[in-house]
Formats: sequence, structure tokens, C-alpha cells
Amino acid sequence: MCGISGYVGNGNAPEILFDMLKKLEYRGYDSAGIAYITGDGTIHLPKDKGKVDEVRRKLRPERLKSTIGVGHTRWATHGAPSQVNAHPHADCSGEIVVAHNGIIENYVDLKSELSELGHKFKSETDTEVIAHLVEHYMASEKSVLSALEKTLERLKGSFAITVITSREPDKIFIARNESPMLVGLGVGENFIASDAPAFLSKTKKALILEDMDYGFVSKKTVVIKNLSTRKEVKKKVHKITWGASEAEKEGFQHFMLKEIHEEPNAARNALSAEKELEEIAGKLAKKTRICFVACGTAYHAGLVGKYILENYGIPAEAFVASEFRYSTVETMDDKTGVVSITQSGETADTIAAIKGAKKKDAYIASIVNVVGSSVTRISDDVAYIRAGPEIAVASTKAYIGQVLSCTLLSLLVARAKGRISAHEFEHLKSELKNIPRKIKEAVENRRINEIAEENASTKKFFFIGRNINYPTALEGALKLKEISYVHAEGYPAGELKHGPIAILDQDTTVLAITAEGKLRDKMHSNIQEAKARGAKVITVGFECDLDVPKTDPLLSPILNIVPLHMLAYYISVLKGLDPDKPRNLAKSVTVE
Ligand code: AGP
Repeated sequence: MCGISGYVGNGNAPEILFDMLKKLEYRGYDSAGIAYITGDGTIHLPKDKGKVDEVRRKLRPERLKSTIGVGHTRWATHGAPSQVNAHPHADCSGEIVVAHNGIIENYVDLKSELSELGHKFKSETDTEVIAHLVEHYMASEKSVLSALEKTLERLKGSFAITVITSREPDKIFIARNESPMLVGLGVGENFIASDAPAFLSKTKKALILEDMDYGFVSKKTVVIKNLSTRKEVKKKVHKITWGASEAEKEGFQHFMLKEIHEEPNAARNALSAEKELEEIAGKLAKKTRICFVACGTAYHAGLVGKYILENYGIPAEAFVASEFRYSTVETMDDKTGVVSITQSGETADTIAAIKGAKKKDAYIASIVNVVGSSVTRISDDVAYIRAGPEIAVASTKAYIGQVLSCTLLSLLVARAKGRISAHEFEHLKSELKNIPRKIKEAVENRRINEIAEENASTKKFFFIGRNINYPTALEGALKLKEISYVHAEGYPAGELKHGPIAILDQDTTVLAITAEGKLRDKMHSNIQEAKARGAKVITVGFECDLDVPKTDPLLSPILNIVPLHMLAYYISVLKGLDPDKPRNLAKSVTVE
């Protein structure tokens, strides 16, 4: 999704803005641009389709002189990636410039209204209406801030907005609704960004904007108001505990590889949320219905939670948020507990799903990575996985944190409902403490690299698993698809013979995820069925081709996914692809 940067201080704004945009590249984008004001009050607006480095190279910001500006990386939603559609966007006069992350839903109406008043539009974007609206209201309002207030009243949709104007050239005006925005507080300089890594090397102190917050940032002042009261709000200064180096590669070839190596820590950190999870479990135990709701990888973590609850005879469901929000949500009530899972806390479908469920009086608990994100503010209770910043688009360490949290939460619910013996609970809890060490062993298994080499040119992959490892099959397949662009399907192993077995042949590799327990023999039969059709079978699990340490079958999804993360990573690299920035994907999907 789009990334926003803003700088005002004594440094060279154009250079700083590009440096900040580089740190936001992980959000996914197709165009980049900046706007800066020079001493004579002129606004300059270099922008283009392409990578931040390409736009930067053409501009050579080191030769420019400006101390205030805004930057933007665009992920196209309205209008194709192009120079003219790249942000920032200017009004008719070129004296007001806007960068925006989100979607203005009523932009068509606003555009025709403004066109009738004589405004001339250059781009196909929804964003440009904001610049013209501010221009329109500045004709009658005394200050830029009051023109911005009037503008915000007219906007429907999601936005994180930065505005600079030659009318008040020492300020960056800002506003947010549903799209993330932070202000980094420096000494004699301030920063604005969609996410903290953009300014972590400069400051760790930040203000997090809430919905309908707006205001301005200058060299030494930050004023934030909220549209509901129009009064200034006193914002808490958050101390960001992530170091700038944590947001960098630290010697690994890619962020994804670095993040896989951080999985043991992610597991350890997720375990530290036991108190929050216990409180949530107590509330969920009183509900008659428990629903996990999430998207993509996070949904797979929710599925694991569902299987664990069912294992203890507790009914549970797991839903993809984009489906849930338009149908299942209607069945929500105050007897339902919804557990949303999200790394970013900004996923549009997940946000809509929990907002809808909340309206129907359901209890909302969320398992989140990004502190202060939108989901955390909507939820009744939150448990953080504390995995640290995840930069690679493909989620790895956050998935480990999510699966572990869903596992622990489900065990705690089972205990609160008296469905698990104290002995079994203690056994599982103490085994959970061994999981970080066992993940480390799994990550260090050198055989994965060899298996990746042997399968790098395979065109068809099937990932099969049963019961609690069915989500592992889905997640293994998703990871391979995302970063290697090969066809990979995740399937419940027992379903193979109901159709998909027809496409198995000697050009197919089947990843069979195994675990000890009641379905082990059935899984072995499924493996034989695949082999009999000529498919190459790679087993995953304890004492398997992709080997992981032994653990309790209920905890096996946390270990079994580790070699699959590594396999996807190596295959992507062997294919000469960039696993950190897969095509067509964005890290946080903040639009529907
Ligand atoms: C993960 O590898 C994917 N890129 C994607 O499925 C992701 O998990 C999904 O978009 C949900 O994101 P969230 O956890 O930030 O809500």
C-alpha cells in the first residue's frame, strides 16, 4: 500500500524524504514522488512511475535546497501507474500539494462538483480532489487549517493525508482516517510517516494519529486536533522499542531470510502475552460461539486455533474476513466472541469484519503485531505478538507469533471451560516453552537447501495435510505461490481423491505434512496414493525429508511450517526472484 513521508527541520528535505521512502518500500508501490518548498516559496513536484531509487537518480536531491517537504510511494488503485497519477498532487494554482494513502470513496461526486466550479484535473486519481477541495475552501477560510477542516468534512473513505502549501510554507498539514499515520518527534525537526521504520534512525519518539485527527507539524511544534470536537488533543508520546537496525537486513541477503531466522524470538515474544491471552480466554469461554476472522496467512493461524478448540470439544469457526464481512457478520450477537488476527492491524477486510461484528454486539479480541494500529483501537481486547517489524511482504515470523498465540489462546479457553486436564495443560505449556529452541533447530536444517535445488524447476506443487496440519498445507502453498510464482495448492489430504488426484503425475511434487497422532496412518495412505500416480513426495515433520524436532501433535503446526518458509524462500532465490517484494502484492492490504 502507499507510503507517506514528511519532513520539516534544518536538514535537506528532498534527500531525507527519499531516505524515508526507501524504508517504506516494503509496503509495496509502483510510483514515487516528493514535493518540497524552496526559499522563494515555490513548490517543486518531481515524481514518476518506478522505483524510489530511479526517481531519486533522475532528481539528484543532494543538489537541492529545501527544509520542508512530503514524499509518497503509490500503489495504484484509481488510474494506472504513471507519472501523472503518481503523488503528490497539486491544485489548479500549484500552490497546494497533497499526498494521500487510502481511498476517497466519494471522489467522483466531488470531482464533478469541483469541475463545475472551474477546477482543472490532471490525473485519474481520487486523491487530486483533496488538493482542489483545500484550494476551494481556502478562498473563504482564514487559515489552511480551517480549509483542511472543511475539506475533511466532505471526504468519505480512508485517508492519511499530508498537505504543503506556499501560503504557510513552514508547516505540513496532516489528517488521518483509517489509514496509518505517525509523527516522529525530533529535536528541531519532525517527521511524518505511514510507519515508524521511516524515521527510526532519527528518532524513536512518536505520536500515533487516531481516526479524524488532523493538524499541522512545523520544525518545533506539533498541533493535533480531532474533527469530532475541533479541539486540540493531547497525544501520548510513544517510545518505539524497535531499533532502526531491526528494520534493516543485518547482513542477511533478504528481509525474508532475516525474518525466518527471527522466528525463534517471535515464538518467545508471543509467549510473553500469556496474561493478555488469559484475560481474553476468560471472556471467550463465556460465549456460545467463537469465530476466528482474518485474511491470508493470518487466516491460516486462525484455522489452527479452531482445530485446537475442536480438539477439546469446543465449537469454533474460522472465516476469511472478506467473506465474513458480507454474510456471517449478520449472524453475530452478544453471545459471540470474534478473534481477529492481523500482523499489520490495517487490513481493510479485517477492519470491516470486526467493525461489523462489533455493531452486532459481539465481543472482539485481536491478535496483532503492530502496536497502535487501527484494529487495536476497534477491539475490546488485544494481545500483541510482538514479532517486531516485518518488512518482507511474505509473512513468516509474524505467522509463527500468530499460530503460537492462537494455540495458547485456545488452550486457555479449554482450561477456562474445564475441557482440558491440569496435567495436559501443564504438559503443553511446558512444551510450548521448548518451541523457540526447536524452531531454531528446524531453521538450521541444511537439507532444505538441497530439496529446494532439486525442486526449483518443478511446475506443480501440492501441499497436503490433515486436521491441525491442514492449515500448514494452506500456508506452505501460499508462501510458495507468493514469492516463487509457481502453481501450488494446499489441500486437506483426504480430499485428494475427490478430484485433484487427477492432475498428479511425474511433474508434480507433493509436500506431505505429517504429525504423530490419530491421523498419522491415514496420512501415510494419502502419500501412497500420490506416489502411485508418479508424483514425487517430500514428507514434512518429525523424522521426515524436511525434518523438524519432535513435539506434541497439537503443537506440530508451529514447527512444520518452518521448513516450508525456508523452502519457499530458497526456491524464490534459485529462480532469480526477489522474495522480499513479490509482484502484484502489498504488505498491508488497506483497500478492499
Ligand atoms: C502473507 O504472506 C501475505 N502477504 C498475506 O496473506 C497477509 O497475511 C494478509 O494480507 C493479512 O495481513 P495482516 O496480517 O497484516 O492482516
